[in-house]
Amino acid sequence: MNFFELITRRESCRSYLDTPVSREKLVACVEAAGLAPSACNSQPWHFIIVDEADAKKKLLEATVDVIPGMNGFAAQAPAAIIVLEGKATLLARMGGSINHQHYAHMDVGNALAYLTLSATELGLDTCILGIFNENKLKASFDIPESFRVRAVVLFGYPKRPGPRKKSRKALNEILSLNGFGQPYEKESGDA
Ligand SMILES: Cc1cc2nc3c(=O)[nH]c(=O)nc-3n(C[C@H](O)[C@H](O)[C@H](O)COP(=O)(O)O)c2cc1C
Repeated sequence: MNFFELITRRESCRSYLDTPVSREKLVACVEAAGLAPSACNSQPWHFIIVDEADAKKKLLEATVDVIPGMNGFAAQAPAAIIVLEGKATLLARMGGSINHQHYAHMDVGNALAYLTLSATELGLDTCILGIFNENKLKASFDIPESFRVRAVVLFGYPKRPGPRKKSRKALNEILSLNGFGQPYEKESGDA
């Protein structure tokens, strides 16, 4: 699978088989996430693998029905990874403050992309959850005050192998040429 096939194959999975996911694969995904670029190489992230029954129960208490009726499918996923953002290095924070940017958000976003794409490469499906009870997660998983929970990523094998057709904005809605709003028109010679 080349990279373009890989990014087409990755999709959010909301229906999992109960086949377990090996810890080895989860660790491999975290190793891949750790290779993501970050401002000043600050690497302001931490990952908690959740693959044991007691821990999974605590995870579900903090993720399912936080908004009533949402994310119930999390109960099907055999494993998950809690993605944390920690304090970036002083240099990264100083660099960001010049442009009023919070680079650590981007850094963790990069890590999420690496995490989910490496899962796809290993034959797993994932779903990033952005809705969860952060206080409950912090209490249940002994997460220090200085960290924020940015996402919970479910891992498992899909009940319905994909990929689905992607629902995305048209290229000309997200791309300008040489100036904002200058339209991109596909030429017949373009690949
Ligand atoms: C930050 C973030 C938070 C998300 N939170 C949820 C969520 O709570 N529940 C859910 O079902 N999907 C969630 N998603 C998945 C998106 O709905 C999904 O990525 C988007 O619809 C595009 O579909 P695809 O991932 O299948 O390509 C989240 C994705 C991101 C990046």
